[in-house]
Amino acid sequence: MSSFRPAPAWLADAVFYQIYPQSFADSNGDGIGDFDGIRERLDHLAWLGVNTVWLNPCFASPFGDAGYDVADYLNVAPRYGSNDDLARLVDQARGHGIRVLLDLVAGHTSDRHPWFTASADDPDDHRYIWAAEGRPDGFVASPGSRPGAYLPNFFTFQPALNFGYARTDPAEPWRQPVDAEGPRANREALRTVMDHWLGLGLSGFRVDMAASLVKDDPGKTETSKVWTELRHWLDRTHPDAVILSEWGEPEVSVPAGFHTDFFLQFGGPTDGLALRSLWSNGSGTVNLDWDPLDCFFDPSGKGSPRPFVEAWQQASAALGDSGFISLPTANHDFSRLNCGPRSAEQLPVAFVFQLTWPTLPAIYYGDEIGMRYIPDLPDTEGSVLGPAYNRAGSRTPMQWDDGPNAGFSTSDHPYLPVDPDPGRPTVAAQRADDTSLLHLVRRLIALRTSTPELGPDGSVEVVHAGYPFVHVRGGRYLVVVNPREERTSCPLGDLRPGRALEASGVVTDGGTLTAEAFGYGIFELTP
Ligand code: NOJ
Ligand code: CA
Repeated sequence: MSSFRPAPAWLADAVFYQIYPQSFADSNGDGIGDFDGIRERLDHLAWLGVNTVWLNPCFASPFGDAGYDVADYLNVAPRYGSNDDLARLVDQARGHGIRVLLDLVAGHTSDRHPWFTASADDPDDHRYIWAAEGRPDGFVASPGSRPGAYLPNFFTFQPALNFGYARTDPAEPWRQPVDAEGPRANREALRTVMDHWLGLGLSGFRVDMAASLVKDDPGKTETSKVWTELRHWLDRTHPDAVILSEWGEPEVSVPAGFHTDFFLQFGGPTDGLALRSLWSNGSGTVNLDWDPLDCFFDPSGKGSPRPFVEAWQQASAALGDSGFISLPTANHDFSRLNCGPRSAEQLPVAFVFQLTWPTLPAIYYGDEIGMRYIPDLPDTEGSVLGPAYNRAGSRTPMQWDDGPNAGFSTSDHPYLPVDPDPGRPTVAAQRADDTSLLHLVRRLIALRTSTPELGPDGSVEVVHAGYPFVHVRGGRYLVVVNPREERTSCPLGDLRPGRALEASGVVTDGGTLTAEAFGYGIFELTP
């Protein structure tokens, strides 16, 4: 049994929308998206029906890793506006029924953060992990007057904050215990940072690399304790706020204290198989060292929904009603939905699935109009992670209309180039066409929001775990998706679909259901 307060009631109805702030809307023509740009688009987001926005880091930063190298946790980067501009955005968002979460980069700072520059000159400072002499494996030579070397958490310019080690070793004196002075100061700093932004009206945080805090931590036992302590503090001081982890193992992160965790391309016993087998196998963006894998939502029809369903069953059984699993369409680190062998016409089925499955949906900005991954872009603010791994392709400007830079910015030098395809999708064109993906996504969100059986707490029963994929929600709604480029059929047993709430290319004939290529449907069952 969890000892936490139940998640705030609003979370069960959350439809997350991830905004990459530098790429969403540029209000002042300097080429970089900003808070006022987002504020001017709140009407649109409210029209779409999303109710919880999460913003990638928008804090002062040298932007070596697009803002994941924080130089000041308490002040925003001037390129996005001021703290007051953020407060205004959050206020007006609330007026539109939209909550805003920030990104808490808990495990590391920039090497330009004053904590680090001070630490690099002071051998008695333990906010970071320092080897007093030499340069052990994985460490980086001190840039300051302090001798020795520090441990980075991601890029070398992102020194790991010291939350201690689960296992100490006299031969490696930098392995401090979790209750040493540095780790205690850092845990307190997390509370200070969270308190600051929650006080300004923010509703919580997506937490970057949440599993990375305590080093050499088998089973993440000690890292979990850090989050448990933090959740108890949140429950007491900000009971309406939520924390959403970048961890990828809800079975561990939610019992540790997170209200919800993403299924990600990595993490957990299957190393991200749930999401990778669905629609993010890396094709189009990433080679990593992933095993070649056919996605269920690829047109070839060679994939299977089973790895996803099994991972979901396992995780949701472990969670009970203590928290939620979040299912993203994509994010700023991996492929968009529209990439590799998957084209825009194949996206409706993916959204029908995402918005009817008992997880919390997270839509990555632009996926709702079918923006694609753009190959071969310049390395921008640390976007390149490997020879065939450039995250820039998933971070291009939001496509609003037919104006300059697709309406993103009037600058000649936008943050990243817009999709050069003259037929690129835009919000304006899709809003004007009620057969568009955007309208479908909007209707699906509205349906989900008005139908508790389709939310994360409704029951689910899988009727056919193949092509087509068929499931029943809350004993009342039959959902069908066929991501394959060929017609498929399956038996329906006693189930009798009645009124279609949303359907394209699905028919039933007696006890057989047939779905055309990329067909989908949500039907009321006839009792
Ligand atoms: C995960 C973030 O999503 C990614 O963009 C970033 O580069 C690393 N963490 C380091 O903070
Ligand atoms: Ca701007």
